[in-house]
Order: sequence, then structure tokens, then C-alpha cells
Amino acid sequence: MGSSDQTQQCKGTVCVTGASGFLASWLIKHLLDDGYHVRGAVRDPENHEKAGHLWALPGASERLELVKGELLTEGSYDAAVAGCDGVFHAATAMDFVKSDPKTEMLDPAILGTVNVLRSCVKAKVKRVVLTSSSAAVRYRDDLEQPGAKSDLDESVWSSIPFCTKYQLWYSLAKILAEQEAWKFAFLHSLDLVTVMPSYVVGPCLSPQLSKTAKDVVNLLNGNSSLIFSLRIMFCISRIFSLGM
Ligand SMILES: NC(=O)c1ccc[n+]([C@@H]2O[C@H](COP(=O)([O-])OP(=O)(O)OC[C@H]3O[C@@H](n4cnc5c(N)ncnc54)[C@H](OP(=O)(O)O)[C@@H]3O)[C@@H](O)[C@H]2O)c1
Repeated sequence: MGSSDQTQQCKGTVCVTGASGFLASWLIKHLLDDGYHVRGAVRDPENHEKAGHLWALPGASERLELVKGELLTEGSYDAAVAGCDGVFHAATAMDFVKSDPKTEMLDPAILGTVNVLRSCVKAKVKRVVLTSSSAAVRYRDDLEQPGAKSDLDESVWSSIPFCTKYQLWYSLAKILAEQEAWKFAFLHSLDLVTVMPSYVVGPCLSPQLSKTAKDVVNLLNGNSSLIFSLRIMFCISRIFSLGM
């Protein structure tokens, strides 16, 4: 054990799903810094290219475990969350351009979230934190209607017909996954918290660029297809007065 670990008491065990990802890697860093024992769930714990950077984090050699977790495999997270006080569910399919959105983006988000929550109930996890997204609340088509609420809070959702019509698959995945999560948590008396980040950019702990960092690089490089999609999004949002 390093010297800081000798004086620091372990605060408990927490699981982070999608541990190799951009946000999850930072979360794991902070949890290790704060003295937690962290169990990171990744699709392939042996894949050094994706998860190797986690072993370089301070405290990792003493308090990090990497275990297997696949969103669409029933019960896949049972081992990952067993004995955990808390679970941060950050795994999701992030690619925006998909040939089969249901299989590749919606199912992992919706069925995968319930799969993780089911394991949490079995393991009697005290609290689950789900990374939802501002995409689950910000796409509205009702703002022109009289009395429509323009503030975004817990009572507001993005419009499912709007996201379906404009093929905003990621947003649809985040709305439906969060809604399923709340239903499941209510039915099983699970303590659930959701966080709704917007567009998170910053240094990547992984040598691989995050999806959002790639977007920024593509914008700087003048990637025409990305700029075209952003223009379309901007036009749609102007039409519906979304204030983006
Ligand atoms: N980044 C942002 O700006 C932002 C904004 C709002 C919300 N969020 C939310 O925050 C969370 C993390 O986002 P991120 O930017 O950190 O994404 P990310 O870097 O793409 O990480 C996603 C993680 O999910 C894993 N994953 C994908 N499909 C999986 C599957 N079928 N089974 C198991 N694991 C799977 C990936 O594993 P592999 O490495 O094996 O692919 C990866 O580790 C997501 O829920 C996202 O919706 C992010």
C-alpha cells in the first residue's frame, strides 16, 4: 500500500459500469482519490487498450478491480455489484450514427439499464446513480403551446415523438432508459439518483479520444458531415424555439 492508503480508511465498495469510458474513468479517479474500493465493470477486463489507463491511477493497484459486464447479457452485472454500497451506471452506447438504432443504441440503454438495476436489487445496493443526459429533457416540441413550462426540471421530458421523427436515437435512448429506471426503482424501492450532464469536454484519461472530444476535433478540422448535422439540429431547434 502507498503511504496515503496506509493512513486512509477504505470508505466502502462502489461499482462503476462502463469503467473504460470518458466520464467513468474520471469518476473512478475521484473515487480512488477519496478512498473507495472501486469495482469497474467493462466488456473485456483483459483489453489493455481500452482499460489499461485505469491501472495507472493512484490507488488502483490496491483498490481497483476490473470485472466483466455486458449490458445485454442478463445477470452480467451480478458479480460486479455484489457487496457494493453504491453503483454508478455510466455504460451506454454513445455513437450517434447507427445503422440499426434499436439493436445498437436503444436496447443497450434501456434493457441494459434495467439489467444493471436488477443486479443492484439482488445485491441490496444502497444507492444507484444513473448518468442520464440533458438530451432526456431538452428536446421539446410543446414550447409554443399556451402555458408550456420553459424551465427544465424533474417534471420535464424530451418529446418522444419529436426525437423519433428526427431520429435523435441517442436522446430517445436516454429518455426511455431513464423512464424505465424510475419505474423499476419505484417498483423495487431502489434508491435511485439521476444526473443529467450536457456536453462534457476536457482531458481524457484514456489514450483514446472520447466521443465529445472527437466531435470538437472534427469541428476544428472542418468535418463537413458533423457541421451539417449540427446545422440541421440548430435549424430544428430554432423552428421549435428550443433556445439552443
Ligand atoms: N460525454 C458527455 O458529454 C455526456 C453528456 C451527457 C451524458 N453522458 C452520459 O454519461 C455516460 C458516460 O458517457 P461517456 O461520454 O463517458 O461515454 P463513453 O466514453 O463512450 O463510455 C461509455 C462506456 O460504455 C461502455 N459500453 C458501451 N456499450 C456497452 C455494452 N453493450 N455493454 C457494456 N458496456 C458498454 C463502453 O465500453 P467500451 O469501451 O467497451 O465500448 C464505455 O466504457 C453515458 O451514460 C452518457 O450517455 C455523457
